Amino acid sequence: MSTPLKVAVTGAAGQIGYSLLFRIASGALGGDREVELRLLEVTPALKALEGVVMELDDCAFPHLAGVEIGDDPKEVFDGVELALLVGARPRSAGMERKDLLEANGAIFTAQGRALNDAAADNVRIQVTGNPANTNALITAANAPDIPRDRFSALTRLDHNRAIAQLSRKTGVPAHDITRMTIWGNHSATQYPDLFHTLVDGRPATELVDREWIESDFIPTVAKRGTAIIEARGLSSAASAASATIDAARSWLFGTPADDWQSMAVVSDGSYGVPEGLVSSFPVTTGGGSWSIVQDLEIDDFSRSRIDASVAELQEEADAVRSLGLV
Ligand code: NAI
Repeated sequence: MSTPLKVAVTGAAGQIGYSLLFRIASGALGGDREVELRLLEVTPALKALEGVVMELDDCAFPHLAGVEIGDDPKEVFDGVELALLVGARPRSAGMERKDLLEANGAIFTAQGRALNDAAADNVRIQVTGNPANTNALITAANAPDIPRDRFSALTRLDHNRAIAQLSRKTGVPAHDITRMTIWGNHSATQYPDLFHTLVDGRPATELVDREWIESDFIPTVAKRGTAIIEARGLSSAASAASATIDAARSWLFGTPADDWQSMAVVSDGSYGVPEGLVSSFPVTTGGGSWSIVQDLEIDDFSRSRIDASVAELQEEADAVRSLGLV
């Protein structure tokens, strides 16, 4: 019998947490392996989190080995093998970008240090909380003993959204669509690239035209989060939780042969993305490792879109550097 997989979730009493915890506890992440949840919240939210834990208890999940909650990152991260950093400071009315980066900088600086001191040697860290790429950059910079390739930021939701749009357009089920790519930042500048995508084994570009790609597909995927807020009055939560699990599961257990996932990782300079930026790439994953898919042909159209998103990442990185956060 293997030991339980120790998974930390931050922001556990939030919207995404309310969907994420129950899916993890039901086996969506670890399969038959037991899971121990370590849940971090700010002190005022601990009471609400206690209620969530009561509900987890009441599900009597067979693979849930235990749940611990707390407001001290070092205690909560003790021995964790997977840290899903979901909690973040949202932008409030009138808040400047600099203030947002600073507020999140404080959270992810502290969590990076705590992970550095307390997490298991084999820890993998995946940031969902926005601005996710830059929060991952800050976390990594503050955890010098953890190798750079253990940090990622979530662009799997954008990846899944892109597959969903293409599936709808072509009438082919989502599971027959492979090799989708999101490049760059998890923001409106992201570039969903279907020029290497296969739809039931056929190039997507044989089934959709350039006009649809430029005027419909790219803006719909990039602005999907806003469309959901307008419709629901709240930001996407269940789909974000689902993508958080998809990405972590692929990272730990592997992408299928002949497919890849989009994942924001610390750039090694591939595709001209400056080394050190946390940018989304097509990656193959498995056994807790990833590698960027190499040698994809990038035409001028794709190049300019990738460059625009990477320029935004560079600006964010420069801003947090000037604040002394990295
Ligand atoms: P929410 O506001 O419902 O929950 C966030 C939770 O984080 C709150 O309970 C809050 O108390 C907690 N929190 C704040 N600071 C914390 C800290 N220092 N330590 C631990 N917990 C802390 O937000 P929701 O909807 O659950 O979203 C969470 C984050 O995920 C947001 O930043 C959101 O923008 C981001 N997001 C990212 C997506 C992606 O694809 N990367 C998609 C959707 C949301």
